[in-house]
Amino acid sequence: MNSKQTKNTPITILEDVFGTTKDGVTVKRFKMNNENGMEVSIITYGGIITSLKVPNKNNVSEDVVLGYDLLSDYEKSTPYFGALIGRYGNRIAKGNFSIDGKEYTLQANDGPNHLHGGVKGFDKVVWSAEVLNDVGALKLSYLSKDMEEGYPGNLHTEVIYTLTNDNVLEVFYQATTDKKTIVNLTQHSYFNLSGDFSKPILDHIVSINANKFIPVDANLIPTGKLKDVANTPFDFREPKKIGQEINIEHEQLKRGLGYDHCWVLNDQNQAMRFTASAHEPNSGRLLEVFSSEPGIQLYTGNFLDGTLPNKQGGTYAYRTGFCLETQHYPDSPNQKEFPSTILKPGEVYSSKTSFKFSIK
Ligand code: BGC
Repeated sequence: MNSKQTKNTPITILEDVFGTTKDGVTVKRFKMNNENGMEVSIITYGGIITSLKVPNKNNVSEDVVLGYDLLSDYEKSTPYFGALIGRYGNRIAKGNFSIDGKEYTLQANDGPNHLHGGVKGFDKVVWSAEVLNDVGALKLSYLSKDMEEGYPGNLHTEVIYTLTNDNVLEVFYQATTDKKTIVNLTQHSYFNLSGDFSKPILDHIVSINANKFIPVDANLIPTGKLKDVANTPFDFREPKKIGQEINIEHEQLKRGLGYDHCWVLNDQNQAMRFTASAHEPNSGRLLEVFSSEPGIQLYTGNFLDGTLPNKQGGTYAYRTGFCLETQHYPDSPNQKEFPSTILKPGEVYSSKTSFKFSIK
């Protein structure tokens, strides 16, 4: 523990109004500040992290996540910038799955597949908020009604965002249901650690703690086999630039239009494991991600095309942000070999991910 932590200055959390939805619902914003220059802004719409300011090597705090300044921009069009994703992060083939022989059909909102919880997933609902001042945290809650977006069970979800003085943002998820259902929650922040949203993220040096990844078919649905990363562009066991091999001839990179894959994390016997890191040498910023989840999706902003406005007066161009989405594997409800995403009444879904920032 460093001396700054032992001082234990409380995290300050200030609330204001971010905007009003098209349906007239007030959306609040909470700004959490620590004593080491970090400031996290979270809104009740989608539980979205709208801004995340982190010091660089010269101790200048800059925003390192993509997003918008206006609620109307989030309502108009967003590739899930900064949002909480549920009930099921990632894809479910054709939106179909069955539980105990009963078939469910979710809406296809990504070509033939269901993606990130559907048309109005957890990223587009307004959450209830409670400030937990003693622990420097914000608790968001949402009750997703039985059959909302086609998912069975009344699912009560809580997400606690905690900021600490050692520059960790922790996301803790819990959910309970009254009917057998599926759950796979994640956080969809797009990072650009340079602090300059006009710069592609290809020079970020990334490592992923995984010996295997999950190959996908042409619709980005897992083929069901796990593949060794060795001798493929998916080997991030030694840190390398995102851009180092992203454009080489490789069937999986073609299908993802770059990286848009889930890795099978090592050390799954540990409650919390190191999953991945990203270092941006110019700013010195280092992000390390720890999680209780078995998988992590690296998505390199391959669908960003310069049409969405950024917070710095420009637009979000191709590959100007990357996501590290901790999660269970895509399409798990249809893949018998994958860890289960079933939640039963009486059980508590719980999942934790920490984003740790430092300078290297
Ligand atoms: C998916 C991408 C998708 C993006 C949404 C990511 O989590 O893996 O395929 O395009 O979310 O913009």
